[in-house]
Amino acid sequence: MTVPASMIHIVTDGAGGPEVMRPVSGRVPEPAPDEVLIRVQAAGVNRPDVAQRQGSYPPPPNASPILGLEVAGEVVAAGREVQALHIGERVCALTNGGGYAEYCVAPAAQCLPWPPGYDAIRAAALPETYFTVWANVFMLGRLGRGETLLVHGGSSGIGVTAIQLADAFGATVYATVGSEAKAEACRRLGAAAAINYRSADFAEEIRRLTDGRGVDVVLDMVGAPYFLRNLRALAIDGRLVQIAFLHGAKLAEPFDLAPVMTRRLTITGSTMRPRSTEQKGAIAAALRDQVWPVLAHGRCGPVIHRVFPLAEVAAAHALMESSHHIGKIMLHVAD
Ligand SMILES: NC(=O)c1ccc[n+]([C@@H]2O[C@H](COP(=O)([O-])OP(=O)(O)OC[C@H]3O[C@@H](n4cnc5c(N)ncnc54)[C@H](OP(=O)(O)O)[C@@H]3O)[C@@H](O)[C@H]2O)c1
Repeated sequence: MTVPASMIHIVTDGAGGPEVMRPVSGRVPEPAPDEVLIRVQAAGVNRPDVAQRQGSYPPPPNASPILGLEVAGEVVAAGREVQALHIGERVCALTNGGGYAEYCVAPAAQCLPWPPGYDAIRAAALPETYFTVWANVFMLGRLGRGETLLVHGGSSGIGVTAIQLADAFGATVYATVGSEAKAEACRRLGAAAAINYRSADFAEEIRRLTDGRGVDVVLDMVGAPYFLRNLRALAIDGRLVQIAFLHGAKLAEPFDLAPVMTRRLTITGSTMRPRSTEQKGAIAAALRDQVWPVLAHGRCGPVIHRVFPLAEVAAAHALMESSHHIGKIMLHVAD
């Protein structure tokens, strides 16, 4: 296939609301020696894209300034060091940016095959949440079979994946949500209980649901207002994994360190984007071995809330900021 010299991609005219994004024509990127060039058919919208557009999450050095952290499509060119992937192969990829475009480069190590029966939209909905949940809940949080997990934002793209994967790997999952419709969706996906954080104190509810024991792992994206309650919700030897600070990172009240020692708690966290290709490649290898077979059996899979054409990316971001969605918001780029 001939690769054109130019492509449509989304630019942001400075930091601001969804209206700062617009499609323009630009140059097709060239793959580095360890990268492939993908003809993008679909791309995922993720909350970190919203933060980047607003100016609070700048791309790391050397990453594309174009938004978009996950795509699915066809490999149309490969750098000279790439051996495992071939022209014409269908892949989904965790990108280092640049996904809101007709063509996008990604390290070959960050590409995975489409699970059987998947189309481009479903395949593009996998990388960002599966890499993040695997790295944080299973690698850092060490969630094991028979353990318990509390996921905040259970209906988010991340939350849906965390519920499904933890359930598939034999853990009991609890989620927090902001509405009854979202609670129902989380229960259908495998959560043992969903707690409406607007009407209940989740730490008290977790203690009640676990007969006073607490959960083994908490996956948190809310931040400071939940920190002390997250510690209260943890069992002895519990692990708190922090992946975002939607409501701030600085505690307003003093923090008593004693429970960290007396209850042997672990407080950890990570952010995916600045990690090295080697680290992301190791996560991709673990996903391929342990999670792709589960996807192939249909025991978990993406929940697609809505698909927008690439040119309507502003509406996709507005929907994400409204938090009315359950699961993933996607962009259709090409057939
Ligand atoms: N560290 C990493 O590597 C990494 C990677 C990817 C994403 N993330 C982060 O993970 C989070 C989710 O990303 P996403 O793309 O899945 O976003 P998303 O679908 O927009 O989800 C955001 C969620 O936050 C929930 N929420 C807001 N306030 C809440 C509160 N007080 N208590 C409980 N839940 C609350 C919302 O649910 P309600 O409507 O029910 O309130 C919504 O479901 C984002 O903060 C993102 O930045 C981190």
